[in-house]
Amino acid sequence: MAITTQQLIQWKQQGRSIVALTAWDYAIAQLLDAAGVDLILVGDSMAVVLGYETTLPITLDEIIYHAKSVRRGVKRALVVVDLPFLTYQESLQQAMHSAGRVLKETGAQAVKLEGGYPAIAETVARLVQAGIPVMGHVGLTPQSVHQLGLRQQGKTQEASERILQEAIALEQAGVFSLVLEHIPADLAMQISQKLSIPTIGIGAGIHCDGQVLVTSDVLGLAEKHPPFAKVYTNLRETITKAVQDYAVEVRERKFP
Ligand code: KIV
Ligand code: NA
Repeated sequence: MAITTQQLIQWKQQGRSIVALTAWDYAIAQLLDAAGVDLILVGDSMAVVLGYETTLPITLDEIIYHAKSVRRGVKRALVVVDLPFLTYQESLQQAMHSAGRVLKETGAQAVKLEGGYPAIAETVARLVQAGIPVMGHVGLTPQSVHQLGLRQQGKTQEASERILQEAIALEQAGVFSLVLEHIPADLAMQISQKLSIPTIGIGAGIHCDGQVLVTSDVLGLAEKHPPFAKVYTNLRETITKAVQDYAVEVRERKFP
């Protein structure tokens, strides 16, 4: 049975940890879903596998194209789609238009927006009122890379208080879940205890209500990965070896 946003909130109450990963196409999504991943994020981090340096160039049309492909591969997981940089910050109307297109054209169940208080929380509240499930994302927000870099956030008392307040504002605005990226584990624990919706951590310690990683990092497909990612297998090596073996056999006329 397909997973719902309400179910994830129940799992938090039951203490069941949520397993999330990113996907960018049908093949990857189908594998993740069949392997039992609970939440599949069509993250703008797909920039990595598309050859971009940052997430900023990804367009709404591109993410919709990829989300449609992902959606076709998923039977059980909740599918959440990132709204790309500057497809929701300009105005409420722009956010509604972008989120509406994602839900109508892709069949995904929810969108994710980066940032918190006050403008983003207001936008989130209006999207939720319109019936669009929204996931929040605070701490390190990669769409702000030119302001924040890729450093850990929330290290000072003041910065950690601001992230906590953003998390509270987003919960009040109606997010069904919140990504906490690259913040100290004790801050993530404090936020997770304070909120009744589930937190999904990435580089935010073990006390979150679930974890997400970028699948190209987990599979060792990316050329480089952030310090908090765990590389569970090295597909770059596997693929290189397979291709080299094939090339040798073709050149030596051993295959076919
Ligand atoms: O795009 C992405 O992969 C994300 C996750 C890091 C949460 O936003
Ligand atoms: Na993202």
